[in-house]
Amino acid sequence: MDNLTFHKVEENDLETILDIYNFYILTTTSNFYHSPISKEELRQLIFIGHEKYQTYLIRYYNETAGFCFLTQYKKKEAYNRTAEIGVYLNPEFTGKGLGSSVVAFLEKVASSKQIRVVLASISGENTASIKLFQRMGFEKCAHYREVGEKFGRLLDVVDYQKILGT
Ligand SMILES: CC(C)(COP(=O)(O)OP(=O)(O)OC[C@H]1O[C@@H](n2cnc3c(N)ncnc32)[C@H](O)[C@@H]1OP(=O)(O)O)[C@@H](O)C(=O)NCCC(=O)NCCS
Repeated sequence: MDNLTFHKVEENDLETILDIYNFYILTTTSNFYHSPISKEELRQLIFIGHEKYQTYLIRYYNETAGFCFLTQYKKKEAYNRTAEIGVYLNPEFTGKGLGSSVVAFLEKVASSKQIRVVLASISGENTASIKLFQRMGFEKCAHYREVGEKFGRLLDVVDYQKILGT
């Protein structure tokens, strides 16, 4: 998609990302925090000190459209060629098809870092996210029933994976 660019997140981007993330924490079940996180908690999530895993700010026509990341799946060395993937678009940039380009970008980055499996862990209610990953060729690989609870609702978690084959 033209005019979509990705920038490695730096310290001075943290407030922007915090606003987006906390908005979704407060209003949706797209993640399972119950209350807003602090800048320090976000810093620890984002700067995990491993060159393979990176968070990017998404810019669309020079506006901040959201953020996306590749992060560590599990700390044990055997999982070093697997990464978890995530996308959070600003509310006004959802529903426009940007998500596909973002996932395509993350897949390319993952391949360049010798990551061969990418995984998305999604709330069972998050139809937009499930559809996005299905459309991008991810396959459902796990379904955890009623493992989460938010806003008085029991929530499933579904995992989708794609083998990039690098
Ligand atoms: C999930 C997200 C990344 C998807 O990206 P997107 O660019 O908005 O996705 P698209 O516009 O391509 O829409 C994906 C599909 O979901 C559908 N959709 C969008 N919003 C929906 C909703 N609220 N309920 C049901 N379906 C919805 C779209 O119609 C589209 O369906 P299609 O594949 O049949 O055409 C984006 O919406 C987002 O950032 N949401 C908020 C944060 C979030 O949930 N992140 C994911 C955490 S796992």
